[in-house]
Amino acid sequence: MGITTGTTTVSISHGWYGKPVEAEEKLRIFRLDNDEITYAMAVTEEGYLLHAYYGARCGEDDLSYLLRVQESPFTPRILKREQASFMDGRAFEYPCHGIGDYRESCFMIMDEDGMSACDLRYRSHHIAAGKPALRQKGVSCIPATFAGEDEADTLVIVMEDAHAGLTVELSYTIFKNLNVITRSAKVVNHGEADVRLSRVLSACVDFEDCDYDMITLNGSWARERIMERAPLHHGKQSVDSARGESSHQSNPFVALVSHKADEETGEAYGFNFVYSGNFFAQAEVTQHKHTRFVMGINPYDFSWLLRTEEEFAAPEVVMVYSNEGLGKMSRTFHDLYRNHLIRGQWKDKKRPVLINNWEATYFQFDTDKLISIAKQASELGIEMLVMDDGWFGHRDSDNSSLGDWFVYEEKLKGGLPNLVSEVNKLGMKFGIWFEPEMVSPDSKLYEEHPEWAIQIIGRDLTQSREQYVLDYSNAEVRDYVYGMMRKILDASNIEYIKWDMNRQLTEVGSTFLPGKRQRELWHRYVLGVYDLMNRLTTDYPYILLENCSGGGARFDPAMLYFSPQIWTSDDTDAIERLKIQYGTSLCYPASAMGAHVSDCPNHTVGRTTPFATRGDVALVGTFGYELDVTKIPQADREAIPGQIAKFHRFNPLVRTGDQYRIGNLYADSSFDAWMFVAKDKSEALFTFVQVLARPNYPSRSIKLKGLDPKKTYEIEETGQRVSGRTLMNAGILVGTYGDFTSKTLYLKAVE
Ligand code: GLA
Repeated sequence: MGITTGTTTVSISHGWYGKPVEAEEKLRIFRLDNDEITYAMAVTEEGYLLHAYYGARCGEDDLSYLLRVQESPFTPRILKREQASFMDGRAFEYPCHGIGDYRESCFMIMDEDGMSACDLRYRSHHIAAGKPALRQKGVSCIPATFAGEDEADTLVIVMEDAHAGLTVELSYTIFKNLNVITRSAKVVNHGEADVRLSRVLSACVDFEDCDYDMITLNGSWARERIMERAPLHHGKQSVDSARGESSHQSNPFVALVSHKADEETGEAYGFNFVYSGNFFAQAEVTQHKHTRFVMGINPYDFSWLLRTEEEFAAPEVVMVYSNEGLGKMSRTFHDLYRNHLIRGQWKDKKRPVLINNWEATYFQFDTDKLISIAKQASELGIEMLVMDDGWFGHRDSDNSSLGDWFVYEEKLKGGLPNLVSEVNKLGMKFGIWFEPEMVSPDSKLYEEHPEWAIQIIGRDLTQSREQYVLDYSNAEVRDYVYGMMRKILDASNIEYIKWDMNRQLTEVGSTFLPGKRQRELWHRYVLGVYDLMNRLTTDYPYILLENCSGGGARFDPAMLYFSPQIWTSDDTDAIERLKIQYGTSLCYPASAMGAHVSDCPNHTVGRTTPFATRGDVALVGTFGYELDVTKIPQADREAIPGQIAKFHRFNPLVRTGDQYRIGNLYADSSFDAWMFVAKDKSEALFTFVQVLARPNYPSRSIKLKGLDPKKTYEIEETGQRVSGRTLMNAGILVGTYGDFTSKTLYLKAVE
């Protein structure tokens, strides 16, 4: 168990072009095992770090035969002239550019002579109990998963490029009770000369075959993380972001799954990058029908100057293995993120039921309007009012005032402390919206500090939503913005922040960084965002932070390190949300998904759905309202206390239980269904959403999942008592009447 190392000697004996080869090669073996998975590597006598195996747990055998010792000249040491075929065919743990491996590499440099090749060889290794934090000198915070000494073990293999004077520390952590391995890489310049890093990916896995489907989460604004699945084929299939954030368009998640893998069966290798900026993930089917998978910071437009004794830490890749299909892969991600990534006081707590005024009022609100919403909301059991965009500077539309984080007094007559205390008097908490990374051209901040916007001096600066992005590589900018935020936070009892980010980066240049470091801005910007979020969450640990980016453009694990919840999408339509929440659930837990009941016709798609369905769909998330509660139909208003009671009752199950996807709108667009089952299988919540009604035999037979076959469950709504075995094998009959209708069933184990 844990991490083992040892040596083995392999005999090489075969004819090669008629020349008999007899030799021995000493290998250093590394193995990471827990009860269910094994990851194995070997170092050759020449110091190449090769990949042997990743997958279901193996026996205590010597796995070096997987390196195909007998099938081709194994090592350049023995057959020097075959170096090229060795380099281009072997499974490498961290492939380098320019030395004969023509597949995608993880590491590439530019030295002072203009040379880009690099050659990393094993130098040393060390093993530690637990999981050391990911650090880089001069950087305050790099998000990563964490684990105690009895929860994980970490192997660090130090590779060296003696010619360039660099070392790369490859970290591998294996979790004891989860099928998870995390990987990261840290480069240190020990040489005399400056080196430019032109790519530093975080992980590579070379698979023996190419019989996989690649699953990715793609989309656009208001339809984030829509699942796509396609078989691998020769060549390179990738997803990435070069927008400065993880993006609406692609999520830093990929799964390689066996062709027949479904929710319960088949192999699934999930990869998720703990990073909020430009990423790159690619599966490449090679000439030998192997697959090379790589993931890391997008090398596109990346360059990092590493001076003597400086270091660069590439963020973490989380790798999850399941041989029980996609369902177990997702539940492993959920457990990992709930217990080893998300932090803070709200991590394990039920979040307050909030009402957000964005779709209720947009920019047209004032103190009286907010108080009238809060009054009505508090009577219905809503616990927090969130004041969204438009409370600062002179902001009446999205064309001004970002960066002016002081109260728009004409709108909020009586000031913010007064509004907050009025809301508090109603027994409600108060939350507020910020977009701290942005500046409007029409703002005091921009007037005083135009040089603080990301820009290329002399070029036109692109506006998007009439705003610019602040240069967060500059600590002075961050300090200034944070100073303004602190004034707001210190003056009133604010218990929640929605941190938004509403545009992507263009003309990526900094008036602060020297010319030699301009291309570092993409990454330094992200590190700057982390720095400020880290300060905010440290100084105000009681504040519930919700991330947001034009909806769900920054729904990634790095953001979860700071905020236990993220706004999933600006599309609040219950039916649209089914696919969005399904895709998101592939690797992110329901406890992290911001989900609200909004008014109809839905503002994004114009669809009208029953209020009850909107509630049932929002229950798979943090739950709240985004509507003008004073204006909605009386029947909807009257339904709110019941919905809130349902939330209070079932949220602990949704937040901490195991999620089972049952319906799959991607395959059958007529319905969706899912379950949350308590870890001890004592209770479960089943939800069914009928997208399109059907006549004649309107009910569907649905097999439940995740129950204990030996237990008997009582279905509360019908009083029926059925064994878990029957519920899972024969299923239940579920039907609702009408399009877009829903039903929930609560199951309690009685025997
Ligand atoms: C983004 C968010 C919305 C809302 C607006 C305000 O689009 O996703 O929820 O906060 O900004 O401008």
